[in-house]
Amino acid sequence: MSGRFITFEGIDGAGKSTHMSALAERLGSAGRPAVCTREPGGTPLAESLRVLMLQQAMDPLTEALLAFAARRDHLEKVIRPALMRGDTVLCDRFTDATFAYQGGGRGMDRAVLEQLESWVQGNQQPDLTLWFDVSPEVAAQRRAAAREPDRFERQDLDFFARVRAAYLARQAASPARFVRIDAAGTLAQVAAQITATLESRRW
Ligand code: TYD
Repeated sequence: MSGRFITFEGIDGAGKSTHMSALAERLGSAGRPAVCTREPGGTPLAESLRVLMLQQAMDPLTEALLAFAARRDHLEKVIRPALMRGDTVLCDRFTDATFAYQGGGRGMDRAVLEQLESWVQGNQQPDLTLWFDVSPEVAAQRRAAAREPDRFERQDLDFFARVRAAYLARQAASPARFVRIDAAGTLAQVAAQITATLESRRW
């Protein structure tokens, strides 16, 4: 596979989606259009699973199974074909979100998630993950200004503190792939960190 796979992570309200769109635009105007997609979602089936995950009450294992079912369809139909063509793929959330939300937030056993990960994706991992890190308090203020909350966004500060801690553990485990972006600053300050990260890789 010759394309680059870049994922965007962080707690709800960190601002990752805004920066993903901005990066897609920059790559496009440099003559390197990217495929932009998201999880859960990215295919008709996976978007249907997203609606279930975000709206219906369910136990954590069911949540994780739906996330990985959606991911499998997305990988098969969108992500792998794009990478095979040599395209850059920008994906709003991926497996790190399952470790953070179902693992950290809901307290699921990591070994179960690792088993699902290896069944669904083999050893395929993003080439780069940009982790938009911000405190749960700042993220909650940003969310309150922006939108109606879904099932996850209605969780309390402790839930998001656990999600954030799980992201931190992911970063410690894969520091070369998983880059922390300080997302507390202005849009320009955050964008500068993304540019620097890509430039340091000569991308
Ligand atoms: P999000 O990506 O924040 O989209 P939006 O910006 O439209 O709100 O929403 C997706 C939600 O799904 C988010 O709260 C995290 C949750 N999620 C999981 O719990 N597990 C997963 O594996 C994934 C991919 C997302």
